[in-house]
Amino acid sequence: MATTIQVSNLKQGYGKTIVLEDINLTVHNGEILGLIGPSGAGKTTLVSTIMGMLRPQEGTVTVLGQKMPNRKLLAKIGYMAQTDALYSALTARENLKFFGAMQGLGSADLKKQIPYAAGIVNLNPDLDKYVKDYSGGMKRRLSLAIALVSNPDLLILDEPTVGIDPELRQQIWAELHNIAKEGKTILLTTHVMEDAEQSDQLMMIRNGIAIAQGTPDQLIKDYQVKTVEDVFLKAGRQQDAHS
Ligand SMILES: Nc1ncnc2c1ncn2[C@@H]1O[C@H](COP(=O)(O)OP(=O)(O)OP(=O)(O)O)[C@@H](O)[C@H]1O
Ligand SMILES: [Mg+2]
Repeated sequence: MATTIQVSNLKQGYGKTIVLEDINLTVHNGEILGLIGPSGAGKTTLVSTIMGMLRPQEGTVTVLGQKMPNRKLLAKIGYMAQTDALYSALTARENLKFFGAMQGLGSADLKKQIPYAAGIVNLNPDLDKYVKDYSGGMKRRLSLAIALVSNPDLLILDEPTVGIDPELRQQIWAELHNIAKEGKTILLTTHVMEDAEQSDQLMMIRNGIAIAQGTPDQLIKDYQVKTVEDVFLKAGRQQDAHS
């Protein structure tokens, strides 16, 4: 299985503030990796570093065989930030066109990909509305559509299901599994345990390190609990007890 993301001995932070002490992570083609951990644990810091928006303080990050940061790779990565970065004075369709073109799509591709990406998040009926008139959840959905529009080899989604209702969440997960089956790789962060359960692999970060890593089933077995949420709670308590 080819490797899409390789993080080795990553130490990362902001100036003298260290957020991630020593992170090692491998994600293969076709895998969905869910990153979980308490608020402030460093999930966004880690995905931003993998994206190449932050340069590692120590250690290395390789994406699709290239050392990050690497501007050329951005066209192959679909990124949904935790905070929506949309043009509110434009319509949703214009946003999709703009970001799709930035990812290298020509007009024929855009014509095909915009209805596909908008369809996954049920936005086709609202594509010609201005983003300033969108609700919070609609903006999240548009951000997800933008990440999907270029059919990227790697999707990095920072809390993609916030503000998304359960029915649509199921529809989105069905499509994420389809995308992974095509050999594309998905890295997402979440606080939602249903999302964690849908992931192929989980990594829990807390206090700068990975405190648990594995498939949801394996973790439930290892920690002798019934749910992923219980793994999360138990792993956290164990770390506190050892510190
Ligand atoms: N630009 C920044 N400058 C300084 N400190 C930062 C910056 N961004 C994040 N931090 C700090 O780094 C730590 C990790 O933040 P990060 O956003 O990665 O957490 P997170 O796991 O994504 O949290 P959440 O679940 O709330 O999104 C926090 O203590 C935060 O205050
Ligand atoms: Mg975050």
